[in-house]
Amino acid sequence: MRTHFTYEPAATAGSADAIVRLISSAELKAGSMAEWVQPQIDEAVRGLYAKGLFKAEPEQTETLSTLGLHSASHVIFAGYDDKTGVHGLRLAAAAAANALKKIKAQTAQIRLPEAIMTSADYTVQQAAQALVEGLTLAVHDRIPELRQAKQRYALSHVSFVPAAGAAVPADMAETWNEGMMVGQLYAEGVKVARDLTNLPGNQLVPESLAAHAEELAREWDLDIEVLDEWAAIEQGMGGLLAVGQGSVHAPRMIVIHYKGAPDKEEAWGLIGKGITFDTGGISLKKGPGMEEMISDMGGAAAVLGAMRVIGELKPDVNVIAVIPTAENMPSAQAFKPGDVIKMMNGLTVEIVNTDAEGRLVLGDGLTTAIRRGATQLVDVATLTGAVMVALGTEATGAITNNEPLMQQVFEAAGRSGERIWQLPAYPEYKRQLRSDAADLKNSGGRYAGATTGGLFIGAFAEDLPWVHLDIAGTAFLDKSRGLEPKGATGVMVRTLVELVTKNEG
Ligand code: BES
Ligand code: MN
Ligand code: ZN
Repeated sequence: MRTHFTYEPAATAGSADAIVRLISSAELKAGSMAEWVQPQIDEAVRGLYAKGLFKAEPEQTETLSTLGLHSASHVIFAGYDDKTGVHGLRLAAAAAANALKKIKAQTAQIRLPEAIMTSADYTVQQAAQALVEGLTLAVHDRIPELRQAKQRYALSHVSFVPAAGAAVPADMAETWNEGMMVGQLYAEGVKVARDLTNLPGNQLVPESLAAHAEELAREWDLDIEVLDEWAAIEQGMGGLLAVGQGSVHAPRMIVIHYKGAPDKEEAWGLIGKGITFDTGGISLKKGPGMEEMISDMGGAAAVLGAMRVIGELKPDVNVIAVIPTAENMPSAQAFKPGDVIKMMNGLTVEIVNTDAEGRLVLGDGLTTAIRRGATQLVDVATLTGAVMVALGTEATGAITNNEPLMQQVFEAAGRSGERIWQLPAYPEYKRQLRSDAADLKNSGGRYAGATTGGLFIGAFAEDLPWVHLDIAGTAFLDKSRGLEPKGATGVMVRTLVELVTKNEG
């Protein structure tokens, strides 16, 4: 269900199940005489503050039952940190959404303090976008259709209203509406990524991932090619074919074209790892936790989610989205350690571990993007356990061969509130990938595993600007936080959209 968002210049009584008042700790501390929602309710909140029970800290909420003092049945005070910029609003909205879920509110009215409408750190439009993203995304969790008697919670209607006495910018309605629209659109892209990533391995195989991509391309009028295993053989996609050969579900190379600047040479290449399930293959993973490997196509999902947004926003850039997709299985036909394979670009690879499969499909993915005209490359992949050892679940790891492009990615991530941390890519690390049997081996061992995994992919960038984003720690969570629920997060959708819509291709 899609939430209906509106802006209203003045509060109308009796129109919502719950009132949400956003409030910073500074405002709570200072505003002893100001009216927030209703005198007795305000007094109760002041009492809680005096006792140190509610301090309007970031993501802190206080839900009060109105007991007939107000037409809404509940009032929620939602704290936010006015020093954390627009992402602080996103998190406050997420906390408010979780509080609204607890009281099963269907409709809510969000009251905006003046500080949000007059901030020097962000525009009114960005504020509206962030609040809509937080409210929508915090409650979009694992697919309810797969469970009996369980419905996914969503608000039916949310209205935003300036708080009592707040000064309102002249063009408020117009810019707020614009921001809400962008926020809903970005959230739609993230939902696409989450829902795909949460699909179990028996319901998503390379062929069906390609079908999902075709449906998305049809809906947004994008050109799409789906190369099956025969086309992959013709084009010499040895990495994709090796990884896919152990499965009864044959691999696919999916290519989606968006041409927003037909006269320009430049084109973004967005490449997403699409392993629909990663058992490790002959180098079989251990049992506990293997179920999480349904998320090994989180990179592919992020790229598809971004294309969903790009297809609607229609920016003046060109984008080539490439998704190499396979199922990594052990079987009598599976590839195995010691095999030497030939990649699409001619490089040979000694397989030392069949569980280092993502870099093999991505190598051919980069070559595919380049052959179709991509001039700068960003790959997104649940690539290594090593990135989780380094960064945990708090940040996506990055490797690059081009600092200016890395900077653009950082700036995009800053706007979206998604954390990225760069790992070193000293040339010395490449020595770990040297092989006696081939041009490269597919694993450099445990040390600096996130870097060597990334640098393996970089070997296929042909000196084009390239950034690798390792989302192994951030794509799938076992505990909800902020605007991210348990399970798939759809991480990097909003950053990719920010990157390609706000930078020349
Ligand atoms: N898909 C995994 C990485 C992963 C691990 C993602 C945990 C999400 C959570 C990847 O294909 C993999 O198995 N990587 C190996 C590489 C190693 C064999 C060089 C790893 O990290 O152990
Ligand atoms: Mn693997
Ligand atoms: Zn994998």
